Amino acid sequence: MQINNKPYHTIWLSDENPSVVQVIDQRKLPFVFEILDLKTPDDCFFAIRDMAVRGAPLIGVTAAYGMYLALLCYKNEDLENYLREKAEYLKLSRPTAVNLSFAVNVMLDFMLRNLTSPNLKEISLAKVEELKSREIRFSEKIGEFGLKIIEEIYQKKQESVNILTHCNAGWLACIDWGTATAPIYKAHHKGIPVHVWVDETRPRNQGARLTAFELGQEGVPHTVIADNTGGHLMQHKMVDLVIVGSDRTTVTGDVANKIGTYLKALAAKDNGIPFYVALPSSTFDWQMEDGITEIPIEERDSDEVAKIEGWNGNSIQLVRLIPENSQAANYGFDVTPARLVTGLITERGICKANKESILKLFPKNK
Ligand code: MRU
Repeated sequence: MQINNKPYHTIWLSDENPSVVQVIDQRKLPFVFEILDLKTPDDCFFAIRDMAVRGAPLIGVTAAYGMYLALLCYKNEDLENYLREKAEYLKLSRPTAVNLSFAVNVMLDFMLRNLTSPNLKEISLAKVEELKSREIRFSEKIGEFGLKIIEEIYQKKQESVNILTHCNAGWLACIDWGTATAPIYKAHHKGIPVHVWVDETRPRNQGARLTAFELGQEGVPHTVIADNTGGHLMQHKMVDLVIVGSDRTTVTGDVANKIGTYLKALAAKDNGIPFYVALPSSTFDWQMEDGITEIPIEERDSDEVAKIEGWNGNSIQLVRLIPENSQAANYGFDVTPARLVTGLITERGICKANKESILKLFPKNK
């Protein structure tokens, strides 16, 4: 997708130096556009933990590059142990998005199977690039399937389709296209009028800062709203459709996504508004059956709630929002039970949020 009319992915190998991975530093957007160099598994770990990169598919691909960088940094210990340790370490960077362990496991398995290959570095890099292209392809397919939902609404309504989204499940969270935003971009490119209600998504404001930025760069009409606005808009028929992303979806269709998603799903149900979740297969957890009790929910530094970042015209500033002696709690994600989800938009098509329907699309995961 575009930034200042120049096409970008969110992660790539440096043209000048193939031992450097580059990412867009999302902590500074939309105010400052900066590229960050990652040279070691540690760099990847901290980029994920501190959210220079974020969003489930991008976290996964960054960790996969981390495994490649581990090979470049390898000295002369036992290679198998070394790779296993790096894999465990990278998986600890964030707990909720299952894409992280999926991508690290793919890389670790591949490297262990090819441990004695004289070209281990080259073929491992090719494997990371394959994972990256796969995520791009899957996001675009999600866009094509989701487009049909928007088209149907437009055919009935013959007016701009109002879509509400939460957090950033856009191309910044993936490599390109996004998951929740891919159908929106496809519709926009096709000339279907769409307008997006962008939840600001406190505490880190990924909606206000990132989704608004990327929609703006692509010329998609949008309005940023305070997180508590969605219910009111839904009651007044100002939302036709909700599309969100996911960090982990159980095989039974329970969806973990950014904190606040559940409340939007409840409001959508109460108002008879379709609530879709867009996700690639790397976001399914094929082992988990009960999202609420089983999905690990990240708790981040309470300062992210107690303070807020903004642009003062010259620099990014952090200001305090709550009294010095008040406590704050910062839960990163919540789980929307399958019964509140109208459908899952995947790279293989749209299915119901239940085990039978999911496994019909992905029979190998039975
Ligand atoms: O904490 P974040 O910004 O990594 O959370 C991101 C989300 O919740 C996204 O909705 C999710 O990762 C889907 S990304 C396509």
